[in-house]
Amino acid sequence: MNSIILVDFGSQTCHLIGRRLKDLGIEVIIVDPEDVLSAIKKYQPKGIILSGGPSSVYEKNAPTINKKIFSLNIPILGICYGWQLTAYLLGGKVESGKKEYGPANLKISDFDSLFYGFPKKTSVWESHGDTVTKIPNNFITIASTESVSFAAVKHNTRNIFGIQFHPESSHTEKGGLLFNNFITRICKIPLVPKKINVEEIIQQIKEKVGERIVIGAFSGGTDSAVAGALVTKAIGKKFIPIYIESGLMRQGTIKRIKRVFPKLLGMKVKIIMAKKNFLETLKRVVDPEQKRKAIGKLYIQLFEKELINTPQAHFLMQGTTYADFIHSKGTKHAAYIKSHHNVGGLPKDIKLELLEPLKYFYTDQVREIGLQIGLPKDVVFQQPFPGPGHAVRILGEVTAQRLEKQVLADAVLVDEMKKSKWYEKVFQCWTILTNSKSTAVKGDTRFFGDVVAIRIVNSKDRMSASWVDLPYDVLQRISTRIINEVPGVSRVVYDITTKPPATMEWE
Ligand code: XMP
Repeated sequence: MNSIILVDFGSQTCHLIGRRLKDLGIEVIIVDPEDVLSAIKKYQPKGIILSGGPSSVYEKNAPTINKKIFSLNIPILGICYGWQLTAYLLGGKVESGKKEYGPANLKISDFDSLFYGFPKKTSVWESHGDTVTKIPNNFITIASTESVSFAAVKHNTRNIFGIQFHPESSHTEKGGLLFNNFITRICKIPLVPKKINVEEIIQQIKEKVGERIVIGAFSGGTDSAVAGALVTKAIGKKFIPIYIESGLMRQGTIKRIKRVFPKLLGMKVKIIMAKKNFLETLKRVVDPEQKRKAIGKLYIQLFEKELINTPQAHFLMQGTTYADFIHSKGTKHAAYIKSHHNVGGLPKDIKLELLEPLKYFYTDQVREIGLQIGLPKDVVFQQPFPGPGHAVRILGEVTAQRLEKQVLADAVLVDEMKKSKWYEKVFQCWTILTNSKSTAVKGDTRFFGDVVAIRIVNSKDRMSASWVDLPYDVLQRISTRIINEVPGVSRVVYDITTKPPATMEWE
């Protein structure tokens, strides 16, 4: 019964508000504005949040809400458009054209409710085209920015709040505290840290699958490993995971798959050795896009071939997480990444029902599930690795010899990162075999060899990234070992470019 209704006015970040609340262990019901009254009746929520949205309250057909909600004595927090609509419906004034995007300094004047525990000034993220220029009667201002007088307001007597900025954005310094205050102090919901019930997930899979057969593309990455482990726990040998060994994955991947999954879970992973096919497909391909397409196509062909061998399969398991799910509907960039996933590109006419046990979980929760079911840490805390693997980290043509160099250099880097305890602290780290050559003298012999670049980045959402300020001694060890251990390498360089402008991968 301790739920919150989140009214979706079409904001890009509505799901992020949901995420912040779910992080607090709150049950969130997302509804369209027209369904809010029936949802209130059904769920008896302890609070309502009105999301932002792309519209202006004066627009024809702008989404609106039944005014009754303001007199039901349920706490309300309007965010951006949600606040503008609140102001408009209760007699305030909203003006168009005062656009503001980016960081702003919030000055707080009331620390009792929404801003309990806040400093006097804090940085918030603004993103709006309209602004409230007159607040309705009985509202008072509790915070403002240089350009927005009514950046946060509250009703004199009722628990109705409005804010112009976006607490859900990770750029809003104390966004989490604001949601915490709304939930605990205003809606009076006690926070009980929510532990994921793995047994319940396994039971749900059992019930859904029944006696039928599940097939799944298994990369050994965190998501497919955790999803696969859950499905195995639920239905045992009725799950047929398939790993396609392209030769493009990190050193040790296939060994780990053979070591961990059959022994730990009794999982029978079907391994298709296809390195030769991939090298053949990549012959003379130098354009990054062509590489991705060629790899994606071959994965599909090999997987389809397997499907013919398994006509009894009813479900296709995928390790889709909530972020993939949202991204595939959302940003152009994320959709582009998805389209290159091994399974994401499968033909639509495959007559298999999808089984996605992690669809409503975020990465950190997936990791928690992985640990709970006993997967080793090196599986659970792996770094993300692109579907086309080393092929997009070898600039120019991928040959057997160049692939060997790249795999080795990357393995040295990972090993040193782990030894120095930096591996877990960064988002991703890898080497790039460039197509530049440089001069070196090894022993007394001069040679003209490959330049290897190192890229080590931190990122939250992959949309932006910063290079990691790694201690010089760690960098030195990585460089020395690559030069000594990877034949034909003459020089090692460190990439110190942020994203944007540079993308994380070089290709
Ligand atoms: P970029 O290079 O676009 O990378 O800044 C952002 C994130 O996406 C990963 N990436 C890929 N993942 N298939 C994938 O599955 C791809 O083709 C691909 N390209 C980039 C990259 O490793 C980083 O985490």
